[in-house]
Amino acid sequence: MSVTSSDSAAYSGALEGSNAKRGLWSSRLAFILAATGSAVGLGNIWKFPYVTGENGGGAFVLVYLLCIAVVGIPIMMAEVMIGRRGGCSPVKSLSLIAERDRLNSAWKLVGAVGILAGFLILSFYSVIGGWAISYVGTTASGQLAGQSAEAVGAIFSGLLSDPTTLLAWHTLFMALVMVVVARGVRSGLERAVSILMPALFVLLLIVVGYAMTTGHFGQAAAFLFQPDFSKLTTSGILVALGHAFFTLSLGMAVMMAYGSYLPKNISIAKTSMAVSVIDTGVALLAGLAIFPIVFANGLEPGAGPGLIFQTLPLAFGQMPMGSLFGTLFFVLLIFAAWTSGISLLEPIVEWLEERKGMNRTVSTLGAGIVCWALGIASILSLNLWSDFAPLGFVPMLEGKTIFDLLDFFTANIMLPLGGLLVALFAGWVMSRQAMERELSLSPAMFNLWLITVRFVTPVAVAVVFIYNLM
Ligand code: TRP
Repeated sequence: MSVTSSDSAAYSGALEGSNAKRGLWSSRLAFILAATGSAVGLGNIWKFPYVTGENGGGAFVLVYLLCIAVVGIPIMMAEVMIGRRGGCSPVKSLSLIAERDRLNSAWKLVGAVGILAGFLILSFYSVIGGWAISYVGTTASGQLAGQSAEAVGAIFSGLLSDPTTLLAWHTLFMALVMVVVARGVRSGLERAVSILMPALFVLLLIVVGYAMTTGHFGQAAAFLFQPDFSKLTTSGILVALGHAFFTLSLGMAVMMAYGSYLPKNISIAKTSMAVSVIDTGVALLAGLAIFPIVFANGLEPGAGPGLIFQTLPLAFGQMPMGSLFGTLFFVLLIFAAWTSGISLLEPIVEWLEERKGMNRTVSTLGAGIVCWALGIASILSLNLWSDFAPLGFVPMLEGKTIFDLLDFFTANIMLPLGGLLVALFAGWVMSRQAMERELSLSPAMFNLWLITVRFVTPVAVAVVFIYNLM
């Protein structure tokens, strides 16, 4: 991480017992880069368009935006605040704050749930990261030029039906993540984010530009932004809520870990807002790039997880210099996924180091290899096990493969639950003075935030959960 050596003046407000030698972010920008690197990833470009397509567009997008504003941003602020106050790894920070304020250290469960969620997410995230790696070759070879939607679809089904190739790319992606986590030095990669993220943004704009020429841009914009509430289901609301957590990297204490490095004089509200706006912008842009291509080619918006791999290659096959842009695009997507993947593995490695006394290399190898092995189950559920629905007897989980189940339980259950606990911890457990000092908002804004984490967020999450159980 890009941090300066310990800055005792800025650190004086941290709790006793926190490890001041961990250093601080060199600047607000460094924190924003790391947090954005974690937030912007496959969730924005791969997952957002396909869940939007599956859930009927506009109304789902509106609920998702509401969840970002009302639940996501306040919880991001809470996570960063807890992290900075504790000044340690999430599990330690939570128990430290809890002890200091004479509170039950059971709150460290939040950190524990988060560590498990990150580990489970990474297992399938790495498989999708592998798809992106595979498409670098597909676009670079020029084989997409002028292809029909059928041919592009066949290339994608060909990839899914081939477990060996999927395993090779999954292995490579996981290795990339493990190398960076094992070495513990991320400054190079984090600095790269400041160039690569804007580049990804520009490439998305180029695809949006192409999408405008398809004659279906208006239809796509209407699909995304004209809410049709008859298409909104209760499970759609759950997916929108879950995705708000997933895309902002919330609910598993990642932002807490990053917050522990944030200097005291930096505004938590402004930085959280900046990260959320960038993240949402990238997702909406991805939607505007993909849906015109979907409609222009008569494809199905609800095609599922393969949506971007069945649409973007069509665009790259048709636009001028498409091979070049396509190759660049998938390389940048890999970088975006890589920085997110690191933030998924980091918490468990840190925990193994802190709790089990393993060194960094051993804990990275151990956690990474187990996660990699679990990823094989996701690979097989795309082909050999595609009909295997282990929990199919539960009505809500009918037809869900292992891959679907991992995604469902992490994004839609574990992350909102983690977020709910964070909101309760901040809203009801932590001392008000401490929070006022950390957030340094105007009294009106502070109260608005406090009401949100005390009531709005817990009620929203609880209502969505209960509705879906019924
Ligand atoms: N936010 C990332 C994405 O959109 C995924 C991710 C990285 C994540 N770290 C996380 C999700 C922590 C939840 C929690 O691709």
